[in-house]
Amino acid sequence: MKLDPMASYRRLLSYAMPYKLRLIQAILIGGLFAASTGAIPWALQHSFGAVFGDSGGTEPSEGPVGLGGWVLPEWTGEMLPGKKSSEAGGPSEALQAVSDEGSAAGGGEQGNRAESLHNSPRSLWHILPYAALIPLLGLLRGLFDFGNRYLIGWVGDRAVMDMRNELFAHVHALSLGFFHRNHTGQLIGRVTSDCQMIQRAVSSVLSDLIKQPITLVVLIGYVFFRNTLLAVFSLILFPLCVLPVIMYGRKVRRASSKAQRKIGDLVDILQETFTGARIVKGFCMEEHEADRFSSHAQNLFRQQVKILRSSSIVEPVIVFLSCLGIGAALVYCFQVGMTHNEFLGFATALMLMYEPVKKLSRIHLTIQQSLAAAERVFQVLDEEPEIADPPNPVTLPSIREAIRFSGVDFAYDSSGNVLEGIDLEVRAGTVVALVGPSGGGKSTLCNLIPRFYDPTAGSVSIDGHDLRTLSTRSLRAQIGIVTQETILFNTSVARNIAYGKPDATASEIEDAARRANAHRFIVELEQGYDTVIGERGSRLSGGQCQRLAIARAILKNPPILILDEATSSLDSESEYLVQKALDELMADRTVIAIAHRLSTIQHADTIVVLVHGRMQEVGTHEELIACNGVYERLYRMQFQKQAWTIDEPRP
Ligand SMILES: Nc1ncnc2c1ncn2[C@@H]1O[C@H](COP(=O)(O)OP(=O)(O)OP(=O)(O)O)[C@@H](O)[C@H]1O
Ligand SMILES: [Mg+2]
Repeated sequence: MKLDPMASYRRLLSYAMPYKLRLIQAILIGGLFAASTGAIPWALQHSFGAVFGDSGGTEPSEGPVGLGGWVLPEWTGEMLPGKKSSEAGGPSEALQAVSDEGSAAGGGEQGNRAESLHNSPRSLWHILPYAALIPLLGLLRGLFDFGNRYLIGWVGDRAVMDMRNELFAHVHALSLGFFHRNHTGQLIGRVTSDCQMIQRAVSSVLSDLIKQPITLVVLIGYVFFRNTLLAVFSLILFPLCVLPVIMYGRKVRRASSKAQRKIGDLVDILQETFTGARIVKGFCMEEHEADRFSSHAQNLFRQQVKILRSSSIVEPVIVFLSCLGIGAALVYCFQVGMTHNEFLGFATALMLMYEPVKKLSRIHLTIQQSLAAAERVFQVLDEEPEIADPPNPVTLPSIREAIRFSGVDFAYDSSGNVLEGIDLEVRAGTVVALVGPSGGGKSTLCNLIPRFYDPTAGSVSIDGHDLRTLSTRSLRAQIGIVTQETILFNTSVARNIAYGKPDATASEIEDAARRANAHRFIVELEQGYDTVIGERGSRLSGGQCQRLAIARAILKNPPILILDEATSSLDSESEYLVQKALDELMADRTVIAIAHRLSTIQHADTIVVLVHGRMQEVGTHEELIACNGVYERLYRMQFQKQAWTIDEPRP
C-alpha cells in the first residue's frame, strides 16, 4: 500500500495536537533561543571592540564601540540613560588612555601600566559588563535550549505513548484472521521498534523544526544588517545544500522501511526460538537457528549501512559549502578592508548559521526515517476489523433455545471451503460432541460460535438472533472456551483463574479451583494461589495447566461452553482428574465438545462426525455404532488401542 508522505506526516503531527499548549510554549522558548543565539556574534563583536580597542582594522574605526550606547548604563549604573558610551568614556577609550599613559612613561613602566589598568575602577567597570555579557548570553541560550528540548521531548514522548497505546488496543480489536495473516514478530516490531523510531524522530524533528528556522532567520537578518553585500556573497552557496538533502532523503526512507521490516524478522525468530527453546535444543538446532538469526541480522546491517552512508554524506557536503562561503567572505573582507572586529562578528554568525542548516538537513533525513516507521504503524491502524458490531447491536440474553448452524460454509482463504453445508442444532442444556479425523474442521466450527470468524455462506444464530446482529461482547460473555492449547499468563495462579472476572473474590477463586480438581495441587505450590506460574504456565505440568484453564471457565460460569480437546496429551491419572473437572464444568450448560478420546463423549446427547468439513454422521453413540459408519470404525480402532489418525473416511 502506497501512502502519501505529506498525509502521513500530518497524521503523525496530529498526535502532538492535544498538547498544543506545551508546543506553543516550546515555540516561544525556541524563539528566545534563536534571539540569544543571534545576540552572540553581536556581543562578541562589541566585546572585542571594548577589550582590545578597535584599531585592528585597516578601515578607520567609527569610534569606540559601546553596546549601542544604551545597554551599558543599565549595567554600570555609571552612565546616564541615552548617553553615548563614547561620551561617558567608552571602554576602548579607557584602553587607549592606558596605552597613552604607558608610552608617555616609557617602556620601563610596564608593571605600573598593568597596575593602573587593574586599579582603575573606571576601566574595570567598563570591561566587566562585556566580560559578563558572553557567559550571560551563554546561560540564557542554554536555559532556552533546555526548556525547548524538554517541552518538545515531552510532547514527542507523550504523543508516541498515545500512538503506541492506540496501536495495542487497535491490534486487539482486530479479528483473529489478522493475527493469522501477520507475523507476530512484525506486529511486535511495529509496537516497539517502529514506535521508538517515531519517538526519537518526533522529538528531534519537532524541536529543531521550530528552533532552527527561527535561529537561521535571526542570524541571516543579522548578517544582512551588518553588511548586505558580504551576506549575499557568503550565503550564495547555501541553497546548494538542499540538493544532497533531497537526494539522500529518499534513499534513507527506502532503506529505513526495509530495516524496520528486518527488525520484525529478527523479533519473529526471537519469539519463535525463545518460546520453543526446548524443541530447538531437542533437535540440536541451536547452530541452525544462530545461522538463521545472523543471516537476518546481516540483512538488517546492510540496510543500516545504507542509511548510515546516506545520512553521513549530507553533513560533510554542507560543511564544505559553508567553508567555501567563509573563504569567499575572507577574500571579500580583504578587498573592502573590513575591521577584524566586524569580521569576527560576521564570521561567528556564519559559523552559527551552519548549525541550523546542518540540523535542518538532518531533520529531513530523520523525517524520512520516521515516516517509513509511521507508515508501517498507520497500515496497522487502518486495518478494519472483519468482525465488527453492527450499528445497533442486540445484547444477547442468556441462551434459552438453541445454537443453530444453517447451511454454513466457511473458508479461511481462497484455498477452498473448510466447512461445507453445516446444518446443526445444539439445543440449550445439551452436549453435542464433534469427532472426526484431524483437519476435519472441528475447531473451525467451534470458532464460528464466539464469532471469531463469520461464515462465508449461511448463518449461525442463537435463539434466532443471527450472530452478526449481536454485540460481540455480550455474545462472548456467554461463552467459556477451554482450548486445545492451554493459554495461561505469567502472573499468579489466582489471577489466571480470575482472568475473565478480575473482581472475583478469593473464596470464589478457591471454589472454582476445588471444582476443577486444582485446589489440592495449588496449595502445595510454594506460595499457593499467589505462585507465579511462569510464561505460559511453564512451571506447571500439562494436566495442572488444563485444570487451571477449567477453573477459569468454571469461575466465568458461562451458559455456553466450548471444549476443544481439553483432555489431549494427559496421562490416565491426570485425564481422570481433568475429566472429573470437566464433568463438573459441563453440568447444566450448553456444551460443544471436541474430544479425540471417544470414551469421554459417549454420553453426549448428539455426536457429529465431521469429515473434510462435512457432517458425515449425526446421532447418539448407540445409533452411530449401529449404523457401522466412520464413528463405528473410529470407536473400534480406539477400542483396539490403535492410533486413530485417519485422513479418509472408509469407502
Ligand atoms: N487460520 C487458518 N488459516 C487457514 N487454514 C486453516 C486455519 N486454521 C485451520 N485451517 C485449515 O482448516 C482445516 C480444518 O482445521 P481445523 O483446525 O478446524 O481441524 P480440526 O478438525 O480441529 O483438526 P484437529 O483434530 O487436528 O484439531 C485444516 O485443513 C486446516 O489446515
Ligand atoms: Mg482442532
